[in-house]
Amino acid sequence: MSVREEFDDWAAEGRDKGMEDRHWHTAKYALARMPVEAGDVVLDLGTGSGYAARALRDTKGAGRAYGLDGSPEMAHNADGYTDDRRVGFLVGDFDHLPFADDSVDHVFSMEAFYYANDPRETLAEIRRVLAPGGTFFCAVNYYEENVHSHGWQDNIDVEMTRWSAREYREAFRDAGLHVAEQDNVPDREIEIPDASAFPTDDWDSRAAMVERYRELGTLLTVGVAP
Ligand SMILES: C[S@@+](CC[C@H](N)C(=O)[O-])C[C@H]1O[C@@H](n2cnc3c(N)ncnc32)[C@H](O)[C@@H]1O
Repeated sequence: MSVREEFDDWAAEGRDKGMEDRHWHTAKYALARMPVEAGDVVLDLGTGSGYAARALRDTKGAGRAYGLDGSPEMAHNADGYTDDRRVGFLVGDFDHLPFADDSVDHVFSMEAFYYANDPRETLAEIRRVLAPGGTFFCAVNYYEENVHSHGWQDNIDVEMTRWSAREYREAFRDAGLHVAEQDNVPDREIEIPDASAFPTDDWDSRAAMVERYRELGTLLTVGVAP
């Protein structure tokens, strides 16, 4: 199944907003750390509901915020969630970014990068469009060290790439990006019930849920264009 078919269905079912609610728990910390200055051009890859593009306009004064998504329905919904004419949504693929060389100041992506058809090509594209000193804030919950995410591929027909933290760093460097930092952003908002509630439908033990959310959380890798 293509990205378009899979995620158009998600958008039609309202899952774009559901993702926004969950991902905001950690995405907001990554967004707050982005060195966006007033007037900058920012790009959110795999924008979903478009919350990151809206947040970078609202909280950092980005001059222009683009959200790109391979699903026309996602982009259409995102467009309907804002009246800000400096926030725009595009349909496109990570492997062919519709931007000129050196034209974007900062790129963000939450829970989307690993769906790239060719993640190394996507990194090359990000490197190409980033202006010197520009950053790529790449946030993922699906990664090798997060053993709790390993079964996710079984639930979706789009091929996913499961890199380790080290593989992210190496791929960023191979693409010509400096790795400025990499860390795990814990999700402190998801409610974790008392031990007596376990096992639940989703979790065998409280310890596993604590590890998934409070300890592993979201892997954030920050690349900087030279
Ligand atoms: C799991 S959702 C995350 C959405 C949003 N970033 C969030 O945090 O809620 C992944 C999004 O990436 C988009 N996507 C996946 N692969 C893509 C690709 N190769 N090119 C463009 N968009 C893609 C999907 O359509 C979907 O909207």
